[in-house]
Amino acid sequence: MRVWQVSTFGIESLEFAERPDPIPGPAQVLIKVHAVSLNYRDLLMVKGIYNPKLSLPRIPCSDGAGEVIAVGKDVTAFAPGDRVAGIFMQNWLDGRPTPAKIKGALGGDIDGMLAEYVALNEIGLVRLPTHLSYEEAATLPCAAVTAWNALEAGGIDASGIEAAGVKAGSTVLIQGTGGVSIFALQLAKLRGARVLGISASDKKLQRARTLGLDAGVNYRENPDWDGWVAEQTHNQGVDLVVEVGGVGTLPRSLRSVRMGGVIAQIGVLSAAAEPLPVPLILHNQVRIQGIYVGSRQHFESLNQAVSASQLHPVYEGFPWTQAREIFARMESGTHFGKLVLKVAS
Ligand SMILES: NC(=O)c1ccc[n+]([C@@H]2O[C@H](COP(=O)([O-])OP(=O)(O)OC[C@H]3O[C@@H](n4cnc5c(N)ncnc54)[C@H](OP(=O)(O)O)[C@@H]3O)[C@@H](O)[C@H]2O)c1
Repeated sequence: MRVWQVSTFGIESLEFAERPDPIPGPAQVLIKVHAVSLNYRDLLMVKGIYNPKLSLPRIPCSDGAGEVIAVGKDVTAFAPGDRVAGIFMQNWLDGRPTPAKIKGALGGDIDGMLAEYVALNEIGLVRLPTHLSYEEAATLPCAAVTAWNALEAGGIDASGIEAAGVKAGSTVLIQGTGGVSIFALQLAKLRGARVLGISASDKKLQRARTLGLDAGVNYRENPDWDGWVAEQTHNQGVDLVVEVGGVGTLPRSLRSVRMGGVIAQIGVLSAAAEPLPVPLILHNQVRIQGIYVGSRQHFESLNQAVSASQLHPVYEGFPWTQAREIFARMESGTHFGKLVLKVAS
């Protein structure tokens, strides 16, 4: 089979290589991969920033969707013809995370999905929502599960300790218009929340408005966007910040969240511009909740919501022969929503 693999770090070094077809073990399912989506983490992985000690060669990308074409003798949950996606951490099935459960991430600890065929344990799979194409479903495993978990973490009833979940009446702030943020927008609107957003691009903000964004501001032209959030919320602050910027945005996120509100700390996109205003955390009794994707159970709950609402993910699709160009597109930050590679065999 053909795969893309990282033998030496760097986008230009991505290799289109031949490997033997995988043979499923007794508890495994053989999947013909139809589509793969990119996450910022995959870009960091390919560049050697995510884990400089990663054992190489490694097939990148955690997120893929495909069709079951064979199953091992002990497999009971899946049969040929089923449409499936792998869960991000193959061992986190449900419950709270543990060091053991968060091992086995696709496209990191183990080979990922950017291949014609993949063999995975049946416990590491979910069925796809039936109304989604393979390209659409390939966007879900990392970004959508992460956004879903962030929305579960913060809501209007939160005392600062108890999680209530975003609901009608909540106000949510998203940062940028990449994969996680656009899912957070779509899923928050499903729950009836008001969503504010910041972006480097007015055009992207306009496009986000067509998906339900209530108000947006350009953070390049208005670097003091926390002041804009205060205006938008009558100085109350938002219930939840879906924090993808990291150290460069966290100080303003702390000034944007309401007293007793939640910051779902997800991303690492920016560098520190100022020290962290720690007193704000305690004075405003803010809960900073780290999010690391989620479990199979989270993915299944997300899929139920996606099916019930007939939600369609937002993505830009390309042939997988253009993998290098599409990693470079992600690096440039010019995309909106998800980037998807259609795998052809
Ligand atoms: N913890 C987890 O489980 C988890 C899961 C998924 C992703 N992540 C992390 O979350 C981040 C986003 O991931 P992604 O896959 O959604 O990335 P992505 O699709 O590449 O989106 C990134 C977007 O963020 C915006 N952005 C960049 N710098 C910003 C800044 N300083 N302030 C505000 N917005 C900024 C840009 O949008 P505009 O052009 O609109 O400004 C950019 O296009 C990454 O750091 C990734 O590693 C973490």
